[in-house]
Amino acid sequence: MKKNAVLAIAGATGLVGNEMISILNESKMQFGQVRLLASENSKGEIYSVCGEEVAVEVLDEMSFDGVDYALFATDAELSKQYVPVAVKAGAVAIDNSSHFRMQEGIPLVVPEVNPDSIGDNKIIANPNCSTIQLVPVLHAIRSVSSLKRVVVSTYQSVSGAGKGGLDELWEQTRDILNMKEVKSEAFAHQIAFNCIPQIDVILEDGYSKEEYKIINESRKILSLPELAITATAVRVPVLHAHAESVNIELHDEVSLEDLCSVLLDAPGIELHADHSDYPMQISSASDDMIHVGRIRRDRSLKCGFDLWIVADNIRKGAALNAVQILERLA
Ligand SMILES: NC(=O)c1ccc[n+]([C@@H]2O[C@H](COP(=O)([O-])OP(=O)(O)OC[C@H]3O[C@@H](n4cnc5c(N)ncnc54)[C@H](OP(=O)(O)O)[C@@H]3O)[C@@H](O)[C@H]2O)c1
Repeated sequence: MKKNAVLAIAGATGLVGNEMISILNESKMQFGQVRLLASENSKGEIYSVCGEEVAVEVLDEMSFDGVDYALFATDAELSKQYVPVAVKAGAVAIDNSSHFRMQEGIPLVVPEVNPDSIGDNKIIANPNCSTIQLVPVLHAIRSVSSLKRVVVSTYQSVSGAGKGGLDELWEQTRDILNMKEVKSEAFAHQIAFNCIPQIDVILEDGYSKEEYKIINESRKILSLPELAITATAVRVPVLHAHAESVNIELHDEVSLEDLCSVLLDAPGIELHADHSDYPMQISSASDDMIHVGRIRRDRSLKCGFDLWIVADNIRKGAALNAVQILERLA
């Protein structure tokens, strides 16, 4: 990394931005300056980052002057507006929003899978949280057999919808226990004591946008544009970490032992081979690993497996993946 490099974090006060700060504080990376950018509401808030006390500034057109690296933890509209501003000012931008992910020529990167696609691009897109925890597993498995079909059902925590999603689960739970009327703003329906089979908008063909993110982003990252993959994305009343039930059909006969062996060796994956030691959202939040358990042969297929994959959506599903890309750039 350039000596005294300047780093900016746009959306620093949100769930993903805050987690980026925590990860940077744990890392050995050093910067000449770190700028924290957010809305007018957070102006002047102080965060301790890389050994310095930094006051939050309001994101604007001048925010990226002199910046070398810009991490974006903003929504798609803000990223659309400000990533080009950062790049024009000379920064390399790593964006967490959905805006650039499927654009041709923009790499969509999970460092355990396709680090070489980072190249010397000025914009690098971070995938959707559900995709990030899925593709390293598929990538490891395809080293023993090509993938024939993948069926994913997600159990996604409310923090996937940002601060507003977390607040809504707390507020609704409190209101229900106090026999008060429930208000739904972050989600289409009551999320407390409920599961909602809709994340993002539902399109004309019946899929939700979130489901298409999982399908299309996985194909792009794995460079398998024809991969047969389908998804059902469900919001569940869990605070942190997403879980996925994944059914994988393979072209070749693979033993359970060989499948476990490649997962055991795969970077970023923690294998839970013991059937009673399965990963759960409450035990997988706040760590860096993608946890894979409940691995068993699907007896309805010639060669298929069922797996249960859990990871912290804010950490590995967003902030950590972005910082890992930054480390590679550095
Ligand atoms: N949450 C996840 O699990 C997850 C996973 C993968 C990707 N992502 C993506 O990461 C991005 C951030 O998500 P999040 O969950 O961290 O959201 P969040 O908790 O709602 O945080 C949003 C951030 O954007 C800032 N912001 C909002 N309006 C602004 C404005 N007009 N000008 C400047 N800053 C503004 C907020 O600042 P204030 O605090 O000042 O309002 C806050 O820092 C989104 O694109 C999301 O889709 C999220």
